[in-house]
Amino acid sequence: MSVLSGRTLPVIGAPMAGGVSSPLLVAAVSDAGGLGMIAAGYRTPEQLATDLVHTRDLTSEPFGVNLFVPADPARRSRDRRSHEAAVSRYREALQDRAQELGVDAGHPQWEGDDHWEEKVVLIETFAPAVVSCTFGVPPVEVVRRWQAVGSEVHVTVTSPSEALAAAAAQADVLILQGQEAGGHRGSHEVEAEPEPIDHLGLLETVRGLVDLPLVAAGGITTAGDLRRALDAGAAGVQIGTALLLATESGASMTYRAALRDPGLTERVTTRAFSGRVAGAVRNAFVDRYAELAPPAFPAVDQVSRPVRAAAARAGDVHGIHIWAGAGWRACQDRPAGEIIRELAG
Ligand SMILES: Cc1cc2nc3c(=O)[nH]c(=O)nc-3n(C[C@H](O)[C@H](O)[C@H](O)COP(=O)(O)O)c2cc1C
Repeated sequence: MSVLSGRTLPVIGAPMAGGVSSPLLVAAVSDAGGLGMIAAGYRTPEQLATDLVHTRDLTSEPFGVNLFVPADPARRSRDRRSHEAAVSRYREALQDRAQELGVDAGHPQWEGDDHWEEKVVLIETFAPAVVSCTFGVPPVEVVRRWQAVGSEVHVTVTSPSEALAAAAAQADVLILQGQEAGGHRGSHEVEAEPEPIDHLGLLETVRGLVDLPLVAAGGITTAGDLRRALDAGAAGVQIGTALLLATESGASMTYRAALRDPGLTERVTTRAFSGRVAGAVRNAFVDRYAELAPPAFPAVDQVSRPVRAAAARAGDVHGIHIWAGAGWRACQDRPAGEIIRELAG
């Protein structure tokens, strides 16, 4: 029996890095009967430890933690050789905007791995109910260490071949993320274009390939969406965008304003902000930098981050990433518990 099947609502509150999945939001989702997820991506081990303790203080219900799987060192060196010049050009192009906002564009940290080893150990010590991974498959030795302390391991996949790789690494549950998803596609390969397949298409193909509980993600904002996913064989759903405007969400005021801005009407997938393909509402940043951004993650993310943060402080909806899934117009400003209870019918 998976952790999700033991919850009263078959809903995972997506881990949303960048401050959106605040401990308050994670606890609210778990308290309502779903499964809240802390987003460990971009956090230092110290910040993650604080989030874990804070969340445990807020709720006695189970919750999980999500990690970015880094590229291996050989791959990171190759990325540097292939993309260093293009990342410099991207940085130069961004510098004008950065200076208008009174900041400098960031510098790429080619050797960084988002503190993978320290986070692996921290999670082993804390033993959350669930550990989920995106952007890759954790080594089977790490999967076994987490399982040995009682954590269930979820891996995000965006194609049938990624599903097979995650099953081979002994994942307990697969998160099938379709192209309608908000934020980064969790594809294991950065440079290739992710497969143009939605969560129902993934359910249909992956169901016949692996014998694991499957969780559908991408564009799920209504009770009808959830019902269709369950009818297609999902054990539950993972929702992100539907929680962006929730009372407990850590989304900035500028992000919240952007999601409601009647002048912003189109959702695109773009590498403009981070080098990885992500679902976002189109704004001037997308139009200006999409062509310039090479497929180098997290280098492009690190370069644009201070500029986006300054734009958020300045209230500039055209200077931030407005991560959003296909159902973004249905976002509601209400307590997260109400949102997920209504979703679950
Ligand atoms: C603002 C935002 C941040 C996200 N950050 C993460 C993350 O840190 N880790 C992760 O596995 N998925 C992340 N995602 C993707 C979600 O896990 C999920 O796949 C997606 O939200 C599902 O689509 P939906 O937004 O249409 O519900 C993020 C999504 C959003 C909207």
